[in-house]
Amino acid sequence: MNKNIFITGASGLLGKALVTQFLQNGFTVYAHYSSNTPIQHPECKWLQGDFSTINSIRQFLEQNRSALETCSYLINNYGPITSKKIPELTSEDFYFDYHHNLITTFEITSFFIRYAPLKSVINVGFEFASQLKAYKQILPYACAKNAVYTLTLSLKEAYPHIRFEMVFPSTIEGAALASKNAKTISPIDMAKEIFNIIDASGGQNPF
Ligand SMILES: NC(=O)c1ccc[n+]([C@@H]2O[C@H](COP(=O)([O-])OP(=O)(O)OC[C@H]3O[C@@H](n4cnc5c(N)ncnc54)[C@H](OP(=O)(O)O)[C@@H]3O)[C@@H](O)[C@H]2O)c1
Repeated sequence: MNKNIFITGASGLLGKALVTQFLQNGFTVYAHYSSNTPIQHPECKWLQGDFSTINSIRQFLEQNRSALETCSYLINNYGPITSKKIPELTSEDFYFDYHHNLITTFEITSFFIRYAPLKSVINVGFEFASQLKAYKQILPYACAKNAVYTLTLSLKEAYPHIRFEMVFPSTIEGAALASKNAKTISPIDMAKEIFNIIDASGGQNPF
């Protein structure tokens, strides 16, 4: 069985734990980073890419096509959080968060649907991404993650042979941005949770 996986944002807090989790379970891991290659995973296949524009995402995908088109598993983990009070927000803030969360996820997933033997996609949201509620500090990020959730549900309908899931982590221990009373989860526990979703069905869509 093909156990090749591609993980975006793999040099970050949750990304590093995901790399460890999947390597330990016999996966061949293609891990994306932007500027910091973590040295603690020399056996991992690191792929450098900047996702700041649609063109740079497409360039990354084309340059690494021969590796990426072998992957049956995809984790769209990349999705930077931003924080700004409502009165200070500008339209650019919404552009930024929609680009780095929704557009990046859509562009990468579309590439995999087209070229890879895709079995399973996990999109990483945040604790409240499936709920409609008001936000004081993270409105554009929350809107963008909600849009990723809608995308996930829609792709699930459109491609029933592929398993699409979204996970909703609470604040990850060690994160730079956290509200005072936030529920937290360790990166390792979150990575295990994501691994179990993929492992539970052997990556096959059970529906
Ligand atoms: N942190 C939390 O408390 C929390 C809570 C709930 C959900 N989440 C979600 O969990 C996921 C992982 O979050 P995290 O906190 O683990 O992330 P993180 O530690 O901030 O990691 C950021 C990742 O993005 C990469 N990156 C930065 N700029 C980039 C660019 N221009 N183009 C491409 N890649 C770039 C970084 O690469 P380099 O380091 O190599 O530059 C790194 O791999 C995200 O989807 C986030 O929204 C996080």
